[in-house]
Amino acid sequence: MSAVAFPGRPSRRRTLAPDPEPSQRVALVSGANRGLGFEISRQLAAAGVTVLLGARKPLLGEKAARQLRREGGSVISVPLDVTSADSVRELAARIGSEHGRLDILVNNAGAYFDVDNQASSVDIDLVRQALETNLLGAWRLTEAMLPLMQRHGYGRIVNVSSGCGAADSDGTSCPAYRVSKAALNSHTRMLAAELAGSGVLVNAVCPGWVATDMGGHGGRPVAEGASGIVWAAMLPSRPAINGGFFRDRQRIDW
Ligand SMILES: NC(=O)c1ccc[n+]([C@@H]2O[C@H](COP(=O)([O-])OP(=O)(O)OC[C@H]3O[C@@H](n4cnc5c(N)ncnc54)[C@H](OP(=O)(O)O)[C@@H]3O)[C@@H](O)[C@H]2O)c1
Repeated sequence: MSAVAFPGRPSRRRTLAPDPEPSQRVALVSGANRGLGFEISRQLAAAGVTVLLGARKPLLGEKAARQLRREGGSVISVPLDVTSADSVRELAARIGSEHGRLDILVNNAGAYFDVDNQASSVDIDLVRQALETNLLGAWRLTEAMLPLMQRHGYGRIVNVSSGCGAADSDGTSCPAYRVSKAALNSHTRMLAAELAGSGVLVNAVCPGWVATDMGGHGGRPVAEGASGIVWAAMLPSRPAINGGFFRDRQRIDW
């Protein structure tokens, strides 16, 4: 059966412009002064993308950006605390005036990996803080940046999630972190469904266990964990891969 057009309600689906060249794309990576965010910034810059390296401590952000510029990347440090509405608003205004567009948003900033806690006894304030950064931080940043993508009908939003936020993940540790990533997955699915056909693709990616400050020793190299995230950030428009949960470019269960 063919689709019914409702009068007065224009379809969101339209002919999409060709994908911008990587050198035309502007990416924002949150929590990029170290760990996965830094490596994601490095790989995006190596692909020719202009990277806005978000860091809540400007000196650390500038140091990280300088290192990537020395490697030949076009990388600019920008102050960003995802838990601060003012910080997010100011950055959106700055990107709008200085770049006029945003093509890629990687919601990478994350914290509160509370391995020693249990759901029966975890401090509820800690759960609130985990949700504030891992869920609401990503949500707030996405709401602020989305208009800069919708302006030109192209965008890639990657929510850096975790397998431990999957519905069927076993284990009792990390209750605050786990719930925040499960909620981030839910947000990913909702937003992807809402934006389907708009040119903005929204996906969640688990990097696997990675040897960063959060992951600790024994995890895989950071470059390996970052590569699946960068893949999702650089997805072509066709076929439109949208609303999925991935690890190493393979779909995994929500
Ligand atoms: N490592 C793993 O094994 C693993 C596995 C699955 C998922 N992940 C996810 O991958 C992402 C990156 O983790 P990682 O291992 O690279 O962690 P990490 O080394 O601890 O780095 C976390 C980054 O997030 C930043 N951040 C924290 N709160 C912030 C806020 N309110 N505003 C802005 N930035 C903030 C930190 O900034 P500061 O330096 O200022 O603290 C830091 O740059 C997280 O979302 C994490 O949940 C990691």
